[in-house]
Amino acid sequence: SAGELLRAEVASGSELGRQIGAVIDEGKIVTSQTTVGLLRAGMAGSAGPFLIDGFPRSLSNLEAFEAAMGPARLMLFLEASEREMEARLLKRGTSSGRSDDNLQTITKRFRTFAEETRPVVARLEEQGGLRRVDAAGGEDEVFARVCEALADQGFAAAAS
Ligand code: C5P
Ligand code: MG
Repeated sequence: SAGELLRAEVASGSELGRQIGAVIDEGKIVTSQTTVGLLRAGMAGSAGPFLIDGFPRSLSNLEAFEAAMGPARLMLFLEASEREMEARLLKRGTSSGRSDDNLQTITKRFRTFAEETRPVVARLEEQGGLRRVDAAGGEDEVFARVCEALADQGFAAAAS
């Protein structure tokens, strides 16, 4: 999870973490060099395949990742309405302790999504590397759709 890696850096109390925290509170995107560096370190030493959550959030994220790691096989795009996402995030905010699960930051995150992340969705869709998943409904329902999307794309189901 790109966001978890960034929040871990914030929690470490480092100077870099302090800067990241300020960007997160504004609902903006952390520099790609930082996020790709954290992802690369997090992936080092494991064979993969990797499922990365919350990434890429900008064309810069996408380009920096591809330059460092090569193209991903697939991007899953979980879609829900802003109304639904806002309700889920506010609910999560009652227990998450996250500094960005409040209405003011949520509104900024939606704007950042429209400005910075939409172009990523458009580009990968054009290149045939994107799969949309309807994220309305309950967790089990959405999980089943994600599994179906992965199976459709030739990813074998993990043995359980
Ligand atoms: O994905 P998640 O909701 O955990 O992301 C929380 C915040 O972390 C984002 O709103 C953004 O400020 C930051 N982030 C980022 N770049 C990413 C993923 C998350 O800057 N690729
Ligand atoms: Mg997340």
